[in-house]
Amino acid sequence: MLFKTRNWRRLALLAASGVCCATLIAGCKNNQSAGTQSSILIGEYASMTGSTATFGKSADNGVQLATKKVNASGGVLGKPIKLEVQDDAGQPAQATTAVQKLLADNIVAVLGEFASSNSLAGAPICQSKKIPMVTPGSTNPAVTQVGDYIFRTCFIDPFQGTVCAKFASGTLHAKTAAVFTDIKSDYSVGLAKYFIQEFSKTGKIVDQESYSAGDSDFRSQLTRIKAAKPDIIFIPGYYTEVGNIAVQARSLGMKQPFLGGDGWDSPKLAEIGKDAIQGSYFSTHFSTESKDPLVVNFVAAYKKQYGEAPDGISAVNYDGARILYDAIERAGSTDPAKIRDALAATKDFPGVTGKITIDKDRNAVKPAVILQVVGKEFKYVTTVNP
Ligand code: PHE
Repeated sequence: MLFKTRNWRRLALLAASGVCCATLIAGCKNNQSAGTQSSILIGEYASMTGSTATFGKSADNGVQLATKKVNASGGVLGKPIKLEVQDDAGQPAQATTAVQKLLADNIVAVLGEFASSNSLAGAPICQSKKIPMVTPGSTNPAVTQVGDYIFRTCFIDPFQGTVCAKFASGTLHAKTAAVFTDIKSDYSVGLAKYFIQEFSKTGKIVDQESYSAGDSDFRSQLTRIKAAKPDIIFIPGYYTEVGNIAVQARSLGMKQPFLGGDGWDSPKLAEIGKDAIQGSYFSTHFSTESKDPLVVNFVAAYKKQYGEAPDGISAVNYDGARILYDAIERAGSTDPAKIRDALAATKDFPGVTGKITIDKDRNAVKPAVILQVVGKEFKYVTTVNP
């Protein structure tokens, strides 16, 4: 991609010095250059390194597979999609830099991030430059509130938190709960809040504790949770810390079921949490056990390409990329404003994570699934419709 961009700059110089024609100059100057460029450049930012690196890898796998598929069938507006991927190491400050780099490179739209705090860092830059950003996985409501160029193709946490609370009280018959939150993560803080709101209607929150991503010793908070004797423990975090928390809780003799959200959805969770995480439940976007032919085909294609089954984050990213490409095709142009309008008009898109319609707040309204950790697998338990 960088090579390509440099090439364009070189052409621009040639053009400016009178060697090249005027249309080329126009093509170099703005983001509406599909008429003169041979491909459509899309930016992607993700945590390819750091403690959520498997999320980054899975997300990118999903995007690359969607891109390969669309390019194999003639591309978008007759041109191949090219991806420029920037690693943000899962850090908001680096997400800002990653998006700045993408926008410096003539991209027409941005895919990413999935972690809400990183999307909240990148979104204001896309909004101010009027470049559409599609987050396939960020569930915190504030992300799309940044502005009219920011979209998501997944559900939001007021819904996810309610799904988890209803499952805790309705299915697990919990009357009391403790909540253990990653205090620096917008995702975790938001999901905890919505869970508490709903659970408190029928049950009691007996303890609330917090940690910060990167912590490795959770025993003092867990000792307080143990003393509060909750029926269940809700941990709205990402898989690395959740796995370690589960191990330490069991070593303290705690027997309660753990419950969480989509941040658990990585094969690494079972690797880190081992026996301690067995039987725990979490809500997410997708189950590989679905019999929907769309899902069956996606799972087969993903396994063929990567030698492993897709997880939730690869599925939402596969859908997010396909929705963006579909919107560019429907826009009939790579003009970012027209892509924005086409994204806003997305209706009944047949995704592997469900049928996707973008609402007036630029969020997707779609079902959640609950999965249970059984061995190294996540077994389908139920689907909850909005
Ligand atoms: N929803 C999470 C967030 O907002 C990210 C995520 C999406 C994680 C999908 C796993 C699967 O931070």
